[in-house]
Amino acid sequence: MAVLVTGGAGYIGSHAVAALKEQGEDIVVVDNLQQGHKEALLGGKLYVGDLRDPDFLDTVFQENAIDSIIHFAANSLVGESMTNPGKYYHNNVYGTLCLLEKMNEYGVKRIVFSSTAATYGEPENVPIDEYDRTLPTNAYGETKLAMEKMMKWFDTAHAIKFISLRYFNAAGAHQSGLIGEDHQPETHLIPIVLEAALGKRPHISVFGDDYDTEDGTCVRDYIHVSDLAEAHVLAVHRLREGAESAVYNLGNGQGFSVKQVIEIARAVTGREIPAAIEPRRAGDPAVLVASSDRARAELGWKPRFSKLEDMIESAWSWHSAHPNGYNDKSSS
Ligand code: UFG
Repeated sequence: MAVLVTGGAGYIGSHAVAALKEQGEDIVVVDNLQQGHKEALLGGKLYVGDLRDPDFLDTVFQENAIDSIIHFAANSLVGESMTNPGKYYHNNVYGTLCLLEKMNEYGVKRIVFSSTAATYGEPENVPIDEYDRTLPTNAYGETKLAMEKMMKWFDTAHAIKFISLRYFNAAGAHQSGLIGEDHQPETHLIPIVLEAALGKRPHISVFGDDYDTEDGTCVRDYIHVSDLAEAHVLAVHRLREGAESAVYNLGNGQGFSVKQVIEIARAVTGREIPAAIEPRRAGDPAVLVASSDRARAELGWKPRFSKLEDMIESAWSWHSAHPNGYNDKSSS
């Protein structure tokens, strides 16, 4: 039986494929390669196509004995979702609907879903737990919440069980050094800080230093991408054991400010990394820190790389070896 990974050629998806491979799973990957990279696949059989294409999905389901799905395929830029929400509803919400319809048609009953802390919006409590209010402040988070709700109703009607994993800030790269983060365009803090360390950018822009936090900059909970990947594998196991649908936060429970991240990156890289304070970025909550007690208790999940230094170290190994991401192969 195979695990189908949608969006498996993306940053987190490719690390999940690597983790599944280590477990000896049979893996099928679906990716439209809009943002994914073929080179990021350390295993699996790749089908290039879009979830919104029913004939394409028929081929995938007919050619493979799929028993579980891990669903990453989605657009995930908060800023873009605010200027082009239609793209997010079409790809994320409609794409998920198409997938769930096909799961129902082919009798596939298990799905692990790549969700986000953005489903909570501005938190009422810190650390955030899964029972806290969900009130997204951006269209991206709203679409992910809509996808979760859709899964709930497909469970009610068709007994398709889901585990939704709401991650906080993914960081780092695979220990092998073979895969890492390569977004075009890049918007995330750690890769941008490392691009500044490499001299690819003149400085890192700090988006606001007047938040209600210790040093005035936003605080986030960083979690190593391989620890996230591991949680997906555990979630597949749990669904196979017959678990009910559930939602879990994934984070380390420890917050780091933007300034602290830059300081740690300076120490790890030994580079100066100039920083410039700039205005706030729209839609950024001041503090996002997870309580992952539920995932630890029920999934048996335990982050292995919980030190931010280690995450930045692994990201630095990847970025310094691949300054142009996966394009390095063709450009060098
Ligand atoms: N930041 C900067 N300068 C930059 C980039 C980011 O100061 O050049 C700041 C942001 O303002 C934010 C922090 O660094 O305060 C982290 O920003 P990221 O863009 O790295 O991550 P986000 O917290 O905005 O987003 C992440 C995921 C999203 C998810 C969100 C949940 O990338 O997919 O967490 O809120 F939706």
